[in-house]
Amino acid sequence: MSQFAPIIAEAETALAAVATINDLEQVKARFLGKSGVLTEQLKQLGKLSAEERPAAGAAINVAKQAVEGLVSSRRESILMAEQAQKLASDTVDVTLPGRGRGVGSIHPVSQTLARIERLFQSIGFEVAEGPEIETDWHNFTAMNTPEKHPARSMHDTFYLQDDDGNVREDVLLRTHTSPVQIRYMQAHMEKYAGLEVMPEIRMIAPGRVYRVDSDATHSPMFHQVEGLWVSENASFAALKGVVIDFLRQFFESDDLQVRFRPSFFPFTEPSAEIDVAFISGANKGRWLEIAGCGMVHPNVLRAGGIDPEKYLGFAFGMGPDRLTMLRYGINDLRLFFEGDLRFLSQFN
Ligand code: DAH
Repeated sequence: MSQFAPIIAEAETALAAVATINDLEQVKARFLGKSGVLTEQLKQLGKLSAEERPAAGAAINVAKQAVEGLVSSRRESILMAEQAQKLASDTVDVTLPGRGRGVGSIHPVSQTLARIERLFQSIGFEVAEGPEIETDWHNFTAMNTPEKHPARSMHDTFYLQDDDGNVREDVLLRTHTSPVQIRYMQAHMEKYAGLEVMPEIRMIAPGRVYRVDSDATHSPMFHQVEGLWVSENASFAALKGVVIDFLRQFFESDDLQVRFRPSFFPFTEPSAEIDVAFISGANKGRWLEIAGCGMVHPNVLRAGGIDPEKYLGFAFGMGPDRLTMLRYGINDLRLFFEGDLRFLSQFN
């Protein structure tokens, strides 16, 4: 056994006690460094005789190699332990739900609007649009609701300010889609000016409208679909036929009950409110108001540039939000406008 066996044993014990590469390097320096235990031994060689020197040198080298071997195998085991620990703490939780991309869906009210448009287009109606910031004249005056008319108070809306912060009297957020009637009639008359007989008007105008109102069945912004038919022989009977047919198709129910209840609107004469009743389901037997309608008032035709002596018109304005609630059994209108995906994703 070499005289260096105790040194090697000491190195082995010291190495077994280290847990980090840093500590390992210090132990290595203690034995193999510039003034390490074994290095010091080499320095002593010069004091030996020429005969003793080779054997002693060889023994030291063997001891050095033994310690170097111990250091490198300990280094390896420390690195492996560190790696294993890193892997353990970095594990991926494969049970976490994935991020996935939502498929998205068309908003239920948009689905209703598309459905209404399709049904009316199938009987020759054109889909028209008008501005949401509307003139007071189009929204009220042209609709036979002059300034100070009491019906204006039912349509409280949002007004706009000019640059100096003063409320503007001439423009507002439209309270209904009815002003599109005026814009459409004017454009129609301009387009067919000079013709002996005007081609008849059949249009619907879906869009957003605004009122100062907010509860489970009213939102400050909601939707309407206006309808207008103007021809030489438009009649209340035709109005009823068009509306009843539409509603039965919309609700996919041939025995849907529809009621025309006499009412008042400044822009129609006579006027009616349209109620529906279902013969089954959650709303069974209850009459629910879904639209207003009537024969277009002569003043409205005139404002649109049409001679009320030659032409008659019928009009209606319905609430597609209400229709959507009935069709899907939704009880709070505000759900439509809160953007909650738990609600919206049900309409895929
Ligand atoms: N504009 C009316 C409203 O918002 C609804 C309406 C009623 C429209 C009768 C019409 C109509 O075209 O004929 O309350």
